[in-house]
Amino acid sequence: MKNAIDLTGRRILLTGAAGGIGAATARACAALGVGELVLADVGPMDDIVAELRAQNVAVSAHQCDLSLRKDNAELIAAAGPLDAAVACAGICPLEEDWLDDPDWDDVFHRVMDVNLLGPIHLCRELLPAMAARGGGQIVLIGSIGGRMGGTSPIVQPHYIASKGGVHALIWWLAQRAAPQGVLVNGIAPGPIATAMTATTVYPKEKYPLGRIGEPEEIAWPAAFLCSPAASYFSGAILDVNGGLFVS
Ligand SMILES: NC(=O)c1ccc[n+]([C@@H]2O[C@H](COP(=O)([O-])OP(=O)(O)OC[C@H]3O[C@@H](n4cnc5c(N)ncnc54)[C@H](O)[C@@H]3O)[C@@H](O)[C@H]2O)c1
Repeated sequence: MKNAIDLTGRRILLTGAAGGIGAATARACAALGVGELVLADVGPMDDIVAELRAQNVAVSAHQCDLSLRKDNAELIAAAGPLDAAVACAGICPLEEDWLDDPDWDDVFHRVMDVNLLGPIHLCRELLPAMAARGGGQIVLIGSIGGRMGGTSPIVQPHYIASKGGVHALIWWLAQRAAPQGVLVNGIAPGPIATAMTATTVYPKEKYPLGRIGEPEEIAWPAAFLCSPAASYFSGAILDVNGGLFVS
């Protein structure tokens, strides 16, 4: 039997590619022989681009704000034909007080724009383009917070609601996209050691494995969901959380 966890020849888009999980997913895709990576982030991607080019991986980088419909449309138009995409772009502002902060509503709207409206904009562009080519694979990164309300008291309801929305979006999209050959799936990570969690303390004893996760522990499942080995996955959300939440 041939190894189907193989990305040879595939062109894959990664958003949030400058971040911990996005960059790790780029490395995992490279290790699995990806044909070409198209990276997107609101921030600079020089480090991961240089790292990939040093390994002779074909890569392009697009700096854009993926909360905006226009930026998503321009990205997909510039990206060319895509076999798969992993949407990792996201924000998680940590705030103490959502009850009294007068600016809280503004933050809510920004979180929703980046974490939920952004993937909607992206999929609105990706779905017809992939369907026209006969299929594709899309992976949206949700969160354990959207599964069970969160694991840290300082993670606010905007983030939790946005990620619950991402999970519902995956199910909605999967039903409509599968008949066109487009597989939409997701991953709901537990706490992962990236810039997003750098200021939060995670006491060992609270975690079944005695630790939070590493970015590559989300990257490998994400790369798998972009591979031929995941050809029967549609509407699945993988709980990758070290046993912190089991449903
Ligand atoms: N780290 C965790 O514990 C954890 C847990 C569950 C889910 N997640 C999710 O995983 C994804 C990746 O997070 P991470 O941990 O790698 O965080 P990260 O902060 O390292 O990376 C997020 C990336 O998204 C980019 N980004 C933010 N807003 C953007 C915008 N408007 N347009 C384009 N790019 C934008 C950032 O510049 C950053 O590079 C996020 O969706 C996050 O919500 C993370």
